[in-house]
Amino acid sequence: MKKNIVYVFTGTGNSLKVAKDIAAVLSYCEIISMGSNIRYDLEEEYETIGFVFPTYYRGEPRKVREFIRLLNLQHNKNAYFYAVTTMGKYDGNTLSHIKKLLKGKGITLHYAKGLDMFSNYVISYDMRDTIAEETRQSEIDFEPILQDIKNRKTNKVGRIELLQEIAYKSLIRFVPEMDKYYSVSNDCNKCGICEKVCPVGNIGLDEVGYPYFKHHCEQCVACIQFCPKKAINYKDKTQSRKRYTHPAIKYTDLAALNGKVKSMNGGTKSASFSSTKKKSFFGIVSTPFAYIIWKVYRM
Ligand SMILES: Cc1cc2nc3c(=O)[nH]c(=O)nc-3n(C[C@H](O)[C@H](O)[C@H](O)COP(=O)(O)O)c2cc1C
Ligand code: SF4
Ligand code: SF4
Repeated sequence: MKKNIVYVFTGTGNSLKVAKDIAAVLSYCEIISMGSNIRYDLEEEYETIGFVFPTYYRGEPRKVREFIRLLNLQHNKNAYFYAVTTMGKYDGNTLSHIKKLLKGKGITLHYAKGLDMFSNYVISYDMRDTIAEETRQSEIDFEPILQDIKNRKTNKVGRIELLQEIAYKSLIRFVPEMDKYYSVSNDCNKCGICEKVCPVGNIGLDEVGYPYFKHHCEQCVACIQFCPKKAINYKDKTQSRKRYTHPAIKYTDLAALNGKVKSMNGGTKSASFSSTKKKSFFGIVSTPFAYIIWKVYRM
């Protein structure tokens, strides 16, 4: 019996909800975190292989890119590959990036879609009061995507757009160390939830149980959003803002996902976190734009 696998990256649970719904319609489907520090060598053949993750700054999270880059897919070139990116509204070049990345590994991305879901970037804006309505709408929008994946539909992914690329490259390189601006207030009750929901192990707990950050952050905002005491904040921006997590996803779901780091089969190799210090063409070109884009950035 051939199996299915869906790789997921999530901060506030939107992408995990999508991954769970996909897994429920495909038989023998495993959900594996892309936040783990492990490289998977898929030695068995899979029928379908999916990637589900949020859009960040009109592109993919750094960790998703790194995970896919390191994924050994040589025994699975004939599988049906799909990607779903969950987003507030604009997925920019996200899916084109994934298509290109897979193409470089000799893999065809058969199907790719962006799905509007609740926009969770609390660092930039307050959370809306329309969680129930937006969740319902995203479920309606997701249904045809789910059927397409079930029926192995194919579609075309657009080209990479230059302006979106500049925006992405400008902002994504600041991400790992933005946790320097995170603080933990005295309201912290040392529950340890933030450490459990962090998809990339960027939070440690000190000897008395207070969290600290390790500077390989992905900006997924899970720690800010899931903290029951609103004790984690970014500069002075988020203290008075509301919090959001997907209504169907509990912190325990993320804790379980993040704990699942061992390889299903075959060998595993460590994939170290690399913060790219090398200046690419886009890095150089985009430097003067970065600050402006950051200031006007809205989703
Ligand atoms: C760092 C960051 C950047 C984001 N950038 C975008 C974006 O460029 N376009 C967009 O539509 N939504 C953006 N969002 C919103 C998320 O993509 C959206 O809420 C997503 O569904 C969250 O998925 P998750 O709950 O699985 O983490 C961003 C969120 C974060 C945390
Ligand atoms: S989730 Fe909040 S209250 Fe719990 S340990 Fe982390 S910062 Fe403290
Ligand atoms: S430290 Fe917080 S924002 Fe950064 S990756 Fe971990 S949970 Fe996400």
